[in-house]
Order: sequence, then structure tokens, then C-alpha cells
Amino acid sequence: MLKTITRPLIGTLLAAALLANASAEEKVLNLYSARHYQTDDALYANFTRQTGIKINRIEGKEEELLERIKNEGSNSPADVLLTVDASRLAKAHELGLFVPVKSKVLESRIPANLRTDDWFSFSTRARVIVYNKATVKPADVQNYEDLANAKLKGAVCTRSGSHPYNLSLMASIISHQGEAAAESWAKGVVANFARAPKGGDTDQIKAVAAGECGVAISNSYYVARLMRSEKAADRKVMEKVGVIWPNQKTTGAHINVSGGGVLKHAPTRKRR
Ligand SMILES: [Fe+2]
Repeated sequence: MLKTITRPLIGTLLAAALLANASAEEKVLNLYSARHYQTDDALYANFTRQTGIKINRIEGKEEELLERIKNEGSNSPADVLLTVDASRLAKAHELGLFVPVKSKVLESRIPANLRTDDWFSFSTRARVIVYNKATVKPADVQNYEDLANAKLKGAVCTRSGSHPYNLSLMASIISHQGEAAAESWAKGVVANFARAPKGGDTDQIKAVAAGECGVAISNSYYVARLMRSEKAADRKVMEKVGVIWPNQKTTGAHINVSGGGVLKHAPTRKRR
């Protein structure tokens, strides 16, 4: 579940930005990336080895990069934007930052529900439930709906509700159950808070392990990162914590994506 489904496709998207650019000058692709995972380094190195195209990577936070590309307008040096969460990819689309890409490779390898005309998903992540094995029964936290159950009063921790990971989860609940049900769910979750929202998903998992919270929601890769951590303390955290793939009998776990698109003002497109 945690593996990246289509990582080599990032390379295809990068190549799409450079197609037909046959000039003799050194080929460089300017990549704005909100992904900062070490695994991506190997990917870029392979891309350069196979194509001779250097990657000039500018890393930044998701919202900052969107703002930057918007402000740079037609002078933007950015060719491709990689970011996380469908909400931000959709935002980039709404701002008109992307240009449609036609690629048989992308179309054949990425399922239709994970791509649009101008942005493409490269990996998936699930929003999972983590619980303290000593204080919470797994049977009580099988579904997102359970987090609003008064049984969990004073037990629920989460990062800010305005963070895109939670906004996207909320959007999926609105889509499945309608606005009224989603709102009463959100109110129920808030009524169960163990503390005011703070920190990121990893902080919630650690607080669950420490017993400050009974249950929290987290993106699946944070769970995997702690499980595989070289730090013994991180692995100890995961010994205290159980993980649930929510709503297996109804809608399934909420899945989000990371992905990217070719930018409308990409210099490599202008040079064609
Ligand atoms: Fe994240």
C-alpha cells in the first residue's frame, strides 16, 4: 500500500516538458518541487543519466511555490511543478498555471482517476487512523465516523483542520455523505479533542504513543517513516501504536496523491 505506484512517470513528465527541444545548448530543466524526499534524488540522477538533461531543483513549501509561480507569471523560469495533495494540484490548475500534456506513456500507466488533462499523480497516500494500543480498542476506531463518537471524548488529536490533508479528507466526507452530515461529523471530532490542534501528523502519532492522545489521523507515509526509522525511539513509538485502514466496509480509506504538471510559461516550451 505504501509503495509509490508510478514514480518513474515523473521522468516522463519531465521529458514531456522538454520534447523537441533539440538546441545545442545545455539542456536544463527547472523543477519547482514541494517534495523533499531523499528517494527523489535517485530519480533525478537517473533522469539526467538517461537523457543528459540537468535538473535544477528549487524546493519550497507547497503554498509558497504556487504563489511564486503565480507572481513570476510569463517570466517564470519554472518548467515543471511537483507538489503534494490533490487540493494543491487542483489549485494550480484553477490558477491556470499548468498546460495540458498529451503523453501515451502517462495515459497508459496512470489510471484515469489519478490524472487530468494537465496534472498527473505519481504516488498515493492514505489518511489512516492511529491509536494507542493500551488505551483504545481497535473495534472503536475502525471508521472516520468513529472519531466523532462520544465514546472517544478527550481522546482525539489532529493537526489543524485547515491543513489541506484534513480539508481533502473533509471534502471526501462531504462527497460521500453530504454537507450536513460532514459538518456534524467535524463538530463531533472537535468535541472529542484531547488538545487544541498543533504540529504535523508525526507529532500526532508521537502524542498517541505517549498517551497524550488515544487516537489520531495521519498520512500513511509518516507511519512507514517511523516504522523504518534508524532511531530506536521512533520504532518504539510504533510499538505502542496500532494502525487502522479506515472504512473498509464502506467507502474505504481516503486516498490522496502527490503529482505534478508542466507549467504554461515553461521556458523549455518557449524554446521549441
Ligand atoms: Fe506530508
